[in-house]
Amino acid sequence: MRYACGRGGCGACTVMVSKRDPTSQEIRHFSVTTCLVPICSLYGAAVTTVEGVGSMKTRLHPVQERIAKSHGTQCGFCTPGMVMSMYTLLRNHPQPSEEQLLEALGGNLCRCTGYRPILASGKTFCLESNGCQQKGTGKCCLDLGENDSSSLGRKSDICTELFVKEEFQPLDPTQELIFPPELLRMTENPEKRTLTFHGERVTWISPGTFKDLLELKAKHPEAPLILGNTSLGPAMRSKGCLHPILLSPARISELNVVSKTNDGLTIGAGCSLAQVKDILAERVSELPEEKTQTYRALLKHLKSLASQDLMTKAITLSPYYSDLNPILAVGNATLNLTSEEGTRRIPLSEHFLAGLASADLKPEEILESVYIPHSQKWEFVSAFRQAQCQQNALPDVNAGMRVLFKEGTDIIEDLSITYGGVGAATVSAHKSCQQLLGRQWDELMLDEACRRLLDEVSLPGWAPGGRVEFKRTLVVSFFFKFYLQVLQELKKLIKPFPVPVNRFLSALEDFPGTVPQGVQRYQSVDSHQPLQDPVGRPVMHLSGLKHATGEAEFCDDIPMVDKELCMALVTSTRAYAKIISIDLSEALEIPGVVDVITAKDIPGTNGTEDDKLLAVDEVLCVGQIIFAVVAETDVQAKRAIEKIKITYEELEPIIFTIKDAIKHNSFLCPEKKLEQGNIEEAFEKVDQIVEGEVHVGGQEHFYMETQRVLVIPKTEDKELDIYVSTQDPAHVQKTVSSTLNIPINRITCHVKRVGGGFGGKIGRPAVFGAIAAVGALKTGHPIRLVLDREDDMLITGGRHPLFGKYKVGFMNNGRIKALDIECFINGGCTLDDSELVTEFLILKLENAYKIRNLRFRGRACLTNLPSNTAFRGFGFPQGTLVTESCITAVAAKCGLPPEKVREKNMYRTVDKTIYKQAFNPESLIRCWNECLDASSFHNRRKQVEEFNKKNYWKKRGIAVIPMKFSVGFAATSYHQAAALVHIYTDGSVLVTHGGNELGQGIHTKMLQVASRELKIPMSHLHICETSTAMVPNTIATAASVGADINGKAVQNACQILLKRLEPIIKKNPEGTWEEWIEAAFEQRISLSATGYFRGYKAFMDWEKGEGDPFPYYVYGAACSEVEIDCLTGAHKKIRTDIVMDACCSLNPAIDIGQIEGAFIQGMGLYTTEELKYSPEGVLYSRGPDEYKIPTISDVPEEFNVSLLPSSQTPLTIYSSKGLGESGMFLGSSVFFAITDAVAAARKERDIAEDFTVKSPATPEWVRMACADRFTEMVYICPLPLEPPSHPTPWAIFK
Ligand SMILES: Cc1cc2nc3c(=O)[nH]c(=O)nc-3n(C[C@H](O)[C@H](O)[C@H](O)COP(=O)(O)OP(=O)(O)OC[C@H]3O[C@@H](n4cnc5c(N)ncnc54)[C@H](O)[C@@H]3O)c2cc1C
Ligand code: FES
Ligand code: FES
Repeated sequence: MRYACGRGGCGACTVMVSKRDPTSQEIRHFSVTTCLVPICSLYGAAVTTVEGVGSMKTRLHPVQERIAKSHGTQCGFCTPGMVMSMYTLLRNHPQPSEEQLLEALGGNLCRCTGYRPILASGKTFCLESNGCQQKGTGKCCLDLGENDSSSLGRKSDICTELFVKEEFQPLDPTQELIFPPELLRMTENPEKRTLTFHGERVTWISPGTFKDLLELKAKHPEAPLILGNTSLGPAMRSKGCLHPILLSPARISELNVVSKTNDGLTIGAGCSLAQVKDILAERVSELPEEKTQTYRALLKHLKSLASQDLMTKAITLSPYYSDLNPILAVGNATLNLTSEEGTRRIPLSEHFLAGLASADLKPEEILESVYIPHSQKWEFVSAFRQAQCQQNALPDVNAGMRVLFKEGTDIIEDLSITYGGVGAATVSAHKSCQQLLGRQWDELMLDEACRRLLDEVSLPGWAPGGRVEFKRTLVVSFFFKFYLQVLQELKKLIKPFPVPVNRFLSALEDFPGTVPQGVQRYQSVDSHQPLQDPVGRPVMHLSGLKHATGEAEFCDDIPMVDKELCMALVTSTRAYAKIISIDLSEALEIPGVVDVITAKDIPGTNGTEDDKLLAVDEVLCVGQIIFAVVAETDVQAKRAIEKIKITYEELEPIIFTIKDAIKHNSFLCPEKKLEQGNIEEAFEKVDQIVEGEVHVGGQEHFYMETQRVLVIPKTEDKELDIYVSTQDPAHVQKTVSSTLNIPINRITCHVKRVGGGFGGKIGRPAVFGAIAAVGALKTGHPIRLVLDREDDMLITGGRHPLFGKYKVGFMNNGRIKALDIECFINGGCTLDDSELVTEFLILKLENAYKIRNLRFRGRACLTNLPSNTAFRGFGFPQGTLVTESCITAVAAKCGLPPEKVREKNMYRTVDKTIYKQAFNPESLIRCWNECLDASSFHNRRKQVEEFNKKNYWKKRGIAVIPMKFSVGFAATSYHQAAALVHIYTDGSVLVTHGGNELGQGIHTKMLQVASRELKIPMSHLHICETSTAMVPNTIATAASVGADINGKAVQNACQILLKRLEPIIKKNPEGTWEEWIEAAFEQRISLSATGYFRGYKAFMDWEKGEGDPFPYYVYGAACSEVEIDCLTGAHKKIRTDIVMDACCSLNPAIDIGQIEGAFIQGMGLYTTEELKYSPEGVLYSRGPDEYKIPTISDVPEEFNVSLLPSSQTPLTIYSSKGLGESGMFLGSSVFFAITDAVAAARKERDIAEDFTVKSPATPEWVRMACADRFTEMVYICPLPLEPPSHPTPWAIFK
């Protein structure tokens, strides 16, 4: 089973659990995340894993076949989880609706694909499949007149199908695995005995009767009851909580009882959330609306809660963020408690919620069920929640609100309001509610209520979770929504009744989850191209089917080798300190612990002076590796780490933020600068000048497969075999060589496939490889080092946060005459790639614009945070946000739409960049025009304006962004590649090249190249792995040029071989490939060749500010439209259209996959992904619960991608372009659409339109930027004073 988070938050470990319901006797199937399912809890259940569903060796299941053939896999690490979620859905609903599909996949994260192709595969099972039909119009967008004259080419040349649906085998539910008869027999005759399972440190007791459970609870009052394990599990896994006894009530049918009465509903505490959803939905359909107010509110919340995969139970006793408690509390729910002493009913009131001892559960008590009464006429209940993203995220604030009116009036008879997320437990605003009794439901009451609520629900500035002003704003914004909702209801009951004008009612609607639709357009291959030639065709990822069956082997899937030991890393808990002492004694006593590896054990070099592999006397950041523990098991190694005592002496100054670094003049390298024209003179001649600041937060790679390595020492000649998840095996090899002081030729690095890299596996794997290798050398044992998600996020760093200042001079018509940008990036505590990132940032800052007078400056700050490193786009996505923000600011000042200013300043003709590299922007202009056209931009801009006039609380925004992205490394030596092609005597061909399979489909593309060159079908060709023994001195697979340079090397090798075969073929032109190979062998012709590509000469003279640093540019444009909720800061993505210049795509399915995946990753960077640090520099966001990468529900409702065909790039293989990184920046179109909507709101409210741009545009930022009477109230109503023990805020942002 593959884990990507270990906390139930990513779905990678999903399997299907089937159980027979003891009451209904039905067999129910659940998808569950195994990382939170204790094995003992599965007694009597059948578990189906991806291997059980189908395999390459036996028969593929249609789910597996379709996800692969629809191109729904890239790295494939998430795929088994996706398959299992879909499979379980189909077991329960063989023809699900698209909404059910979306819901089923809601908890499965994928970092590569952008989800669109995964959904496309699932949709092939759905009842109704809209395909590319536009919003139910029944038309395909290709049929629209506006596309006839498209610059994409003639309609007949354009394909919109990336797979052939008709080829799929049908789903046959009768072929599915049956529920095991022995388990059926078990449920017919259930075991009543108490079952006890003893572990090393924990005993699991599962009683068979309720009586036994009560007895056990009395005997072990401190033992928790374990149900879904979604609360206990994460705490036990990552917070070191140990419960020696766990009581499992899984077999107690009394806890699953559901009973309907005339006045309410009782739900057993053991029902899963999915069951609760079904029960509530049933009651809502059976009862009149007035009776189901609470049930409706609960249902609404349940839809946006945690993933379907959680075995969560109905009643969460987790006090802080519980989503259901606030609603149950206002709905006057009662808890039915039982113990050996008897039963007790307690209201789920504010006393209970506050955790008062008198009202709380006694340790020996068990929650048996919850009673939720019906609501009544003149009573209204609502629920609210706002999280960082729409689905699958814990709420920032949630609330339950209920009001009861005196019959026939709008006089408040009873009112209850509770909030979650604003205190240590669910908080009841009891005092405010009491004070409002007897009041009329009107504006005066609203105003008073808001002030009272802010006073009562007070949050100190240092409150855990931070976001204090935002949370306080939500407290009143939610109440305002409730106020409006109730007004609408009263209007139906009391006539006449004054209600607000329509444009204020937009506050009422939530954003419903919508199933994304879209079209992918690409140029079809020439009709004369031989059928067998796969180049230009949407060939499936070579490993697609193996990803889907779970047979694709990742580094950690390699079975345990003989005498293998596990390694875990000990990291610094201080940001900048001297190490005073280390006490290992207790750790070494832990059974199974073998050794501790410190810097002293390194025979060669310990990294560099400024960037040590293992810290020596000093630590520079929290998370710096100090040493490593080697033990027989991973668990033992981690246990030992807890026992290690390190004392530190704090050093100064400690610097975390860019602003602090500037203050302390703390930089990693000299400033990088490019200048053209005369900027000072130009500023004197312009109509206007604007200055502004832009903040762009960092980003975590969040590759699904965390860093991992297996080092196997050999018995002879100090040889080592290293299996490692890396983008740069040669770098791992070199680093291990210098660390161990052995020649490179003794070390072989193997990379079969990597579960996502995105730049994060270029530099870091060498560190882990080297430390593991030291362990292997010292102990003589193979060493496996697998980082868990928390450590990976803590240690490895990510995208550099950026702070940019701009000064721009322009004419009133929007023409920019002078632009001065100064950027600072947060490099962290070591240099890593920070100097290169600064250089790239400066080189790429101009994006698509020709501005005569420019000055770009950049510096990398040295701070006490983990070192930041390469990340897809390498500085471009951060830097160019400054440029584009500056354009938006110019547009606002000129009163022009931003797209006009963009167009006015764009490169138009053959020209030179700021660093004097010549280029032709023709494709840029084509992408821009096509994007405007395909998105019907101008019409939609008008519609957006109309919408905004009609709606006060919801605003729409639209933005179109152009892109000129330079690919490649700015160094000549990086533009080389080699390949090795062997032809065996049976005609089969083994291809090896220097690129690594990261999910980007490089191996598939390489075989397409080899197939065309050798003129044989792809089935004759094979790639096994990337190995430093097969192709030496490889270059990191990065900078979007992996397929370009390795493709040329493969082509070269194949051409050499074909040339050797030519005489044989000439002699026997009708012969078969196998015959030619046989003949060649007979004639002693070498059937092995090395191909080499001596690539582009890249140089940059920073003294002169001139160079030719990049082989070519990728052009593109994206248009996005969003709608924001000004009261909560939430947004929905209505539509995105991307046009990208791929030249002649080698494989349109793969290239579109790269564009979509990068776009969604970029969208995450600019909207949801936020890294939070404690004031002491400890990263809080260390898992999917705290750090939000986009989920399937974040995909734009309409998502269209088109490849612009027919341009030429002679430098690359078959004129295809490298598209790995560029799509990332196009995610900013969503960001600018959000800021466009925010600007519309601010304009209407008469607030300055130029506001500080901050990325990510989180709900918090959006809400606070849409300032209104509620935000004003928050500022007026002061926060309680901060006590001296908490002088600092909860979190800092880099
Ligand atoms: C990925 C993820 C996402 C989540 N998202 C959300 C979300 O969006 N909203 C939200 O509110 N929560 C969320 N949660 C939290 C989770 O849903 C709750 O913690 C859940 O309700 C706990 O139920 P459980 O059955 O898993 O509890 P367990 O972990 O099994 O037990 C939790 C505690 O409850 C006690 N307990 C359990 N049953 C009884 C009983 N019958 N009588 C007495 N004590 C009992 C146990 O002793 C234990 O202390 C999420 C959790 C995860 C892992
Ligand atoms: S959900 Fe289990 S590993 Fe993430
Ligand atoms: S394919 Fe989904 S994470 Fe890589």
